[in-house]
Amino acid sequence: MKILLLGRGGQVGWELQRSLSILGELVALDFDPTHNPDHLCGDFSNLAGLAETVRRVAPDVIVNAAAHTAVDKAEAEPALARTINALAPGVLATEAHKLGAWLVHYSTDYVFDGSGSQPWRETDATVPLNVYGLTKLEGEQRVAACPKHLIFRTSWVYGARGGNFAKTMLRLAQEREALTVIDDQIGAPTAAELLADVTAHALLRASARPELAGLYHCVAGGETSWHGYARYVLGQAQALGWTLKAGPEQVTPTVTANYPTPARRPLNSRLDTTRLQSAFGLTLPHWQHGVARMLTEITGKQ
Ligand SMILES: NC(=O)c1ccc[n+]([C@@H]2O[C@H](COP(=O)([O-])OP(=O)(O)OC[C@H]3O[C@@H](n4cnc5c(N)ncnc54)[C@H](OP(=O)(O)O)[C@@H]3O)[C@@H](O)[C@H]2O)c1
Repeated sequence: MKILLLGRGGQVGWELQRSLSILGELVALDFDPTHNPDHLCGDFSNLAGLAETVRRVAPDVIVNAAAHTAVDKAEAEPALARTINALAPGVLATEAHKLGAWLVHYSTDYVFDGSGSQPWRETDATVPLNVYGLTKLEGEQRVAACPKHLIFRTSWVYGARGGNFAKTMLRLAQEREALTVIDDQIGAPTAAELLADVTAHALLRASARPELAGLYHCVAGGETSWHGYARYVLGQAQALGWTLKAGPEQVTPTVTANYPTPARRPLNSRLDTTRLQSAFGLTLPHWQHGVARMLTEITGKQ
């Protein structure tokens, strides 16, 4: 199996370099061509260059981990966000279809409006609240035009590598005596590691059973708010020996309305993963497992 991985430097892209490497020959690209083999184009703002890359590599599988993920910034640059999140995945879909290749793509809970309190299912109506969500939804639709596609909608992604909410909370808790964190957005922090492992497993299964092509929700088990997430991170960090000015008890809850941002965010980001678990015979671990693991990793302790 020859795999073309795009967006190798992101949180999920980094973990995919590890998890996909056992499936076959892996060509992993950055968006800077000078970092790529044969200076292949991996820049999603260069649609012709991207199509040319797929033709030159002629992969059996394309995995797209690249995206415009700066949710607030996307409000100010909707055309660029659409090119990266929708038009470029569309180019990948066209080229993958021509080759008869699989296309794996990631999407987001932000395709939903966040109403209610039930976990969203794949069949629920999508109503994005912001430019990022709109462009990611269009990306999904374009990717689905390739018959052999796997789309994983996920939420609140973190990894040991790169910046993330948990690391920001740790930094702030070392600097300040008290923190205030939103308590009315509910979701599941999901490890880039988990997404990468699920992707490799699902690809193996789907390559033998093409009828598994489709859209799947993929998040860690359980749920929390950003406030609950922050408290858990600080408690775990203290148990690992971190010296913090603010511990879990010093994290005060607040509501989204008190923190206006350029992009509106959904309150209910719960995703129902029944379809993924039953199609691929998987169990998704509780979100705390992955977060505890990441904290142990960045602390450098057992
Ligand atoms: N992060 C989340 O909380 C979250 C939640 C739900 C869904 N998702 C989805 O999960 C997938 C992976 O996200 P992630 O967390 O791994 O995101 P990430 O860490 O932001 O990685 C995205 C990658 O895309 C790259 N990129 C940006 N512009 C590009 C361009 N013009 N051409 C090629 N590459 C470009 C970025 O490079 P630079 O870093 O150099 O800009 C980065 O390496 C995405 O589809 C995202 O929409 C993420």
